[in-house]
Amino acid sequence: MHKKLFIPGPTEVKKDVLLSQTKPLINHRGPEFSNLYLGIVLKLQKILNTKNQIFIVTSSGTGAMEGAVRNFVKKRALHVGGGAFGELWYKISKANGKAADLIEVEWGKAVNPEKIRERLKTKKYDTLFVTHSETSTGVLHPIKEIGKIVKEFPEVIYLVDAVSSLGGTEIKVKDWGIDVLISAPQKCLAIPPGLSIAIVSEKALKRAIEVKNRGYYFDFLLMKKFFDEKRETPATPAVSLFYALDFSLNKILKEGIKNRYKRHQIMAGHVRSWAEKYFSLFPEKGYESPTLTVIKNTKGIYVSDLIKKLGEKGFTIANGYGKLKEKTFRIAHMGDLTLVEVKELTKNLDEVLKL
Ligand SMILES: Cc1ncc(COP(=O)(O)O)c(C=O)c1O
Repeated sequence: MHKKLFIPGPTEVKKDVLLSQTKPLINHRGPEFSNLYLGIVLKLQKILNTKNQIFIVTSSGTGAMEGAVRNFVKKRALHVGGGAFGELWYKISKANGKAADLIEVEWGKAVNPEKIRERLKTKKYDTLFVTHSETSTGVLHPIKEIGKIVKEFPEVIYLVDAVSSLGGTEIKVKDWGIDVLISAPQKCLAIPPGLSIAIVSEKALKRAIEVKNRGYYFDFLLMKKFFDEKRETPATPAVSLFYALDFSLNKILKEGIKNRYKRHQIMAGHVRSWAEKYFSLFPEKGYESPTLTVIKNTKGIYVSDLIKKLGEKGFTIANGYGKLKEKTFRIAHMGDLTLVEVKELTKNLDEVLKL
């Protein structure tokens, strides 16, 4: 039996998207692939209202996160914690030998943008890394407000991890001053895992020219050269996933991005009110992500048992992440899921929990 995915990635992929991958393969060094890649880039630029360069990379989101570190940190990186993924980006910087500091934030709280201003004022940093939707805590960090602050520091490249938010909630790349936006389409863009997305400004590309040891696989300047000259990728791309991404973007254009964001808000509203009736929400009030809800296990239930019983009914939700395991559980309402499906899930949760 298929257990419908309400986990925060990979999310449930609809049959039409799955089938879109079954087209025969094409030569990735030929015009058909070039058109496919260009089409994906143009569609993403239209959906996100940006003219920035877009790279589709054959790796999960972590790959593009590592690429961002290698390409844009010249002097010192400032990372914002507050959850497993914010802290992961910091660890990636350190693992790549970069000078890096972490602003520690209590898990479940949003970062206070003033803390960032204080640190940037020291003039030690040339890069700032922030997670938008922190998938371990369900917090949506205030990237718009942070962007206003970063504009006061023109030497700083502003990088945002939108792995669990891109396509599910609005991101204004230009207005919010985001230089590098990283994402992965197995979440809100609802395709199978295996690709990442990097949306990169001119300013960031100029920085990359000054950075040594960018590596090879995630060298964005090499990717730019291949794209600009031939609309190709340096290494063999996951062509079938490109089919799926193209198909999904067509669906999104048809739905309308604003309608998609609204659908995410409505699903989030339903899950939050269900959760607040019986438990409480983990994120700080006012900063809840519209793409996933992290629920505090105030009743002390055995979450693993809940997940198992729900699985027998055909649904998958996620336990808390890392140190939040059993203390929280997570319900994703992202991608192509609908309110009807989310209501079906909460009805089944009621039955399992006998609420
Ligand atoms: C916010 C966030 N950043 C980064 C990642 C890592 O992405 P991937 O698992 O695609 O490598 C995830 C994965 O869940 C995530 O949720």
